Amino acid sequence: MSRATAHAHPNIALVKYWGKRDLALNLPAVPSLSLTLARFETETTVTWGTTEDRFLFNGEAADPTTAAKIAQFLSLVDPARPPCNVDTANNFPSAAGLASSSSGFAALALAAVAASGQEWSKEQLSVLARRGSGSACRSLWGGFVEWKLGKRADGADSCGTPIAPSHWDVRMVVGVVSSKKKPTPSSAGMESTRLTSPYFPAWVETAAADVELGRKAVLDRDLAALGEVMESSTLKMHATMWTGRPTLNYWLPGTLGCLDAVQALRKAGIGAWATMDAGPNVKVLCLPEDSERVAIALAPWVERTDILAPGGDATVEQH
Ligand code: PMV
Repeated sequence: MSRATAHAHPNIALVKYWGKRDLALNLPAVPSLSLTLARFETETTVTWGTTEDRFLFNGEAADPTTAAKIAQFLSLVDPARPPCNVDTANNFPSAAGLASSSSGFAALALAAVAASGQEWSKEQLSVLARRGSGSACRSLWGGFVEWKLGKRADGADSCGTPIAPSHWDVRMVVGVVSSKKKPTPSSAGMESTRLTSPYFPAWVETAAADVELGRKAVLDRDLAALGEVMESSTLKMHATMWTGRPTLNYWLPGTLGCLDAVQALRKAGIGAWATMDAGPNVKVLCLPEDSERVAIALAPWVERTDILAPGGDATVEQH
């Protein structure tokens, strides 16, 4: 029996991932770029070689769907694996408006491989994390991370790459418009969008240029350029969702309220730009000195706000 504990932070996409070119392997139709966030994290302990599979999620037995997903994921580490225990918990509320699957599968990949006694490169771990949840491949690293499209059919080159080793001290202000569970999970939403939206080809065609712009903006520390491409990528992604059949809309009235508030801030000279994922919550990119003002501007539209700084790499220890 051997045991390892990993810690990973969630990430928010600045240039978005939406649509898969391979469903089984979770290979993306588009490249993407993200920011890993500090303070919020998943802690996962894997015990390799127990008497039966037992999976705890935030202290309680995982529901059957989650348990099946974890069991399958562990078998990717070793198809002949022994029974394992997994104990995973988030130090942030699942209602925080952040995709906990990104930190969840990054931490599970790290802890499972270490507990199994194997040594994998970070790229291999990122490829593994991607199989659990696409965005998880970006959470192996801190700061700004690109997810390369890759060329190989087996997906071995579609993984995260850190692009800015030293952090640029920006803030992401997370505004929770609604803490209810989203009605359509991202994988199902992506596939119906890919198959039915007439805008999907344009989304795919323009994604690489957006990542280029985003990467350059990060390296130049140009917040306005990064904010503009982030908002544009976000709105293009949601336009593909709305124009699928059936239509897919994750926004609520409060989402638009937040977007108006962000535009008003910009008119008042504050550098603030918004992004939304597969849900109604709004995340605003800004400088540290403007973050309180952004949180106050979002307050009429949201249940809560969190001001988050860039976070570090995922880590693991064997014990
Ligand atoms: O990793 P998934 O399958 O939960 O998909 C994430 C999709 C978005 O959050 C909407 C965008 C992104 O790049 O993270």
